[in-house]
Amino acid sequence: MRRIVLVTGGGNGIGKAVAARFRSGGDTVIITGRDADRLTNTATEIGARPVPCDATDPQQVAQLADDLGADLDVLVNMAGGNTDLHQPDGKGTPLEQVLAAWRANLDGNLLSAVLTTTAVLDKLRPGGSIINIGSIGAEYASTSYGAAKAALAAWTAGLSSTVGTKDVTANLIAPGYIAGTGFFHGQLSEQRRTALINATHNKRVGQPSDIAETTYFLASAGARHITGQTMHVNGGAHTTR
Ligand SMILES: NC(=O)c1ccc[n+]([C@@H]2O[C@H](COP(=O)([O-])OP(=O)(O)OC[C@H]3O[C@@H](n4cnc5c(N)ncnc54)[C@H](OP(=O)(O)O)[C@@H]3O)[C@@H](O)[C@H]2O)c1
Repeated sequence: MRRIVLVTGGGNGIGKAVAARFRSGGDTVIITGRDADRLTNTATEIGARPVPCDATDPQQVAQLADDLGADLDVLVNMAGGNTDLHQPDGKGTPLEQVLAAWRANLDGNLLSAVLTTTAVLDKLRPGGSIINIGSIGAEYASTSYGAAKAALAAWTAGLSSTVGTKDVTANLIAPGYIAGTGFFHGQLSEQRRTALINATHNKRVGQPSDIAETTYFLASAGARHITGQTMHVNGGAHTTR
């Protein structure tokens, strides 16, 4: 069966690799993002359907759900990133700035996935999969970004218990450092990059394809008994037992 796959944040970076992986498997793929031009270019390149949508905006997410049609098989909540890496506007008192910075990361990384999932949940057919994208940063959550991704992982485990009886799985992939994306906005120093590579067991950067292959597997027939889990993809930079 040709599956219908929605990848939020599919216009570039890891999301583009995920979308391309599902396309190469013959699936129908819809990608979203805020930058309509980039989205259209990517969609043309990989043969996906672009739907501009800010995943933090309830009206735009509701419109996306209306545009999708009745059925969906795979939802990948990729949209996100560390909003602390954007320049703060400097407005308000120091505490108001802290509040705005935390809300931005919670909106961008947690509520974006909650809104999209809620809007399309009824469309997911039996055999379907929800895959949320967390971060290794959740393991060291001293930042609003890490805390938002930790909350996303906790919510994913609970979501699994509510969708399981519909034969839908829900998992979270927590990537380590993945190179070649827009995540760091040019702010990753050579020293920090070297430290991130040295923290892995295999002494290499992660590639978008590492996450694309894991996502594709979690949505496959062979992964139907894997649900409610956080899957770490980080070259050993964070280990679990
Ligand atoms: N790269 C890493 O080392 C790394 C590590 C751990 C986790 N991650 C996570 O992996 C995911 C993808 O990141 P990336 O590395 O591929 O960075 P990226 O190249 O900056 O991609 C982020 C994508 O998310 C989209 N996006 C962001 N906010 C959005 C919103 N409100 N609504 C809709 N789309 C939105 C962006 O498109 P628009 O700007 O057009 O909206 C873009 O397509 C993120 O959730 C990130 O937190 C990345």
